[in-house]
Amino acid sequence: MGDPKRSEERWWEDAIVYQIYPRSFADGNGDGVGDLAGIRGHLDHLAWLGVDTIWLSPIFTSPMADFGYDVADYCAIDPVFGTMADFDALLDDVHARDMRLLLDWVPNHTSSEHPWFRDAISGRDAAHRDFYIWRDPAPGGGPPNNWEDAFLQKPAWTFDAASGQYYLHLFLPGQPDLNWANPAVESAMHDTLRFWLDRGVDGFRADVIYAIGKDPALADDPPEFVGLPHCAVQHEPATHPLLRRIRTLLDTYPQRPMMIGEVVALDVDVMVPYFGDDDELHLNFNFAPTYMPWDATFWHDAIIAAEHAHRRVDAWPTWVLSNHDIPRHRTRYAQWPNPEVDTTGSEERARAAAVMLFGLRGTPFLYQGEEIGLEDADIPAERVVDPGGRDGCRAPIPWTAAPGHGWVDPWLPLPQHAGIRNVASTIEDPSSIVHLYRRLIDLRHDEVVLRDGACDVFDTPDGVVGFRRTLKGHRSVTVLVSMNDVPTVVEGVEGTVLVDSLDATADATGFDGRLGPRQAVIVEASPVGAG
Ligand code: GLC
Repeated sequence: MGDPKRSEERWWEDAIVYQIYPRSFADGNGDGVGDLAGIRGHLDHLAWLGVDTIWLSPIFTSPMADFGYDVADYCAIDPVFGTMADFDALLDDVHARDMRLLLDWVPNHTSSEHPWFRDAISGRDAAHRDFYIWRDPAPGGGPPNNWEDAFLQKPAWTFDAASGQYYLHLFLPGQPDLNWANPAVESAMHDTLRFWLDRGVDGFRADVIYAIGKDPALADDPPEFVGLPHCAVQHEPATHPLLRRIRTLLDTYPQRPMMIGEVVALDVDVMVPYFGDDDELHLNFNFAPTYMPWDATFWHDAIIAAEHAHRRVDAWPTWVLSNHDIPRHRTRYAQWPNPEVDTTGSEERARAAAVMLFGLRGTPFLYQGEEIGLEDADIPAERVVDPGGRDGCRAPIPWTAAPGHGWVDPWLPLPQHAGIRNVASTIEDPSSIVHLYRRLIDLRHDEVVLRDGACDVFDTPDGVVGFRRTLKGHRSVTVLVSMNDVPTVVEGVEGTVLVDSLDATADATGFDGRLGPRQAVIVEASPVGAG
């Protein structure tokens, strides 16, 4: 490694995070569902790639109505994933490789199978009744307000005939919302954090964390929001004191645990308040780009907006292209601007996107499989299992070229082209996208300017995104990403190519300003007279 790493105190600012969706990563026991043993068996791949932090989507006991985001016991491992001994062994193995492990904490709701809810629904006087949000029917009958759930386009309320009241669920009826206004809930949920921190985990991705504080009046959504899920529009002041107390808890641990929030807001200015005054969440996903087309105007504006918003509150940005809730970016970009057109350029777009991801200022988050250029799987109607329609991006990772690709009867079909687009085959081919990812990660480790340097977007020809990374006392680099399907010339940028999206093996060649279709480069030079 070239330059020294930033202080361990804010390790997440230097981290490269890899999201594992455990059901689909690797199957250790051959039952068709990925598990902890499978993850342990494939840590070498992650170490080879160079990622240093792993985020595991939920592994806790769950009836799997939402594939783990419906938790029935926050402090136990679901048997489909293994045992607590498997977890401890995984954590040891991760730490032995100098990597860190983040768990997915689901604080907004439990499963309806959680003992708290089983008790709460037993009657109005139940000890845990007030752990959840119960209301009488509206005057004249029906749900207490007009909120809609996230997946079914139905009221976010389910009627419990026995007690004559409705309970709130922003997601599925099997995911009742916790009542964080009740101090007993807050304290019980803090205990779940302590449980894992005491075992040594390095932090959490906090699911739907922005929704834990509710409007005490539970007022109707205004007419302009009707038809949208309530969770897409709610931002309540009540959440912030809860976040500050979570942060205080985290800060008592010696491993400096980090919490990254899932704050669903397409406007980065709506998201940044969740950093507080560096006393709430350490990091927050900036989701705006995951909803943007492969279009340079959008990206140009989004990078400026993210830089501006994070600098204004003195917070650290993150960048993410794909996760388990949205179509993979390769699939999304193949369909832009017209799903009917030929999609052969999708690999080149995915490569260019990777150069942008690692070139930007902020912690990059990868989603399993993007490093081998996976697209969403085609899911025939009879194989659909997710009520939210997200099966395609959750398809199992093909590990080998052999039949089955490392799986026996997997719970979802494999992505297309698994015979060539699998981990082993892409690693064997030095020109493949996985080598580009590895090279970019390596460069990011070596070049402090890519981690710490300022990021300034400059004016470029139509269809090209360009930004310059600069840091006093270090060489500057320029990142150019062409979203054009035709060659483009960028005046005023010359120098040595450090990475070329189209050629993972290229050694320091010269750059004269000419970009091919869908090509991205990181060039060691400052643009002359640009911006
Ligand atoms: C988050 C998760 C998603 C889940 C939802 C409800 O958005 O990322 O997968 O369905 O929360 O927990």
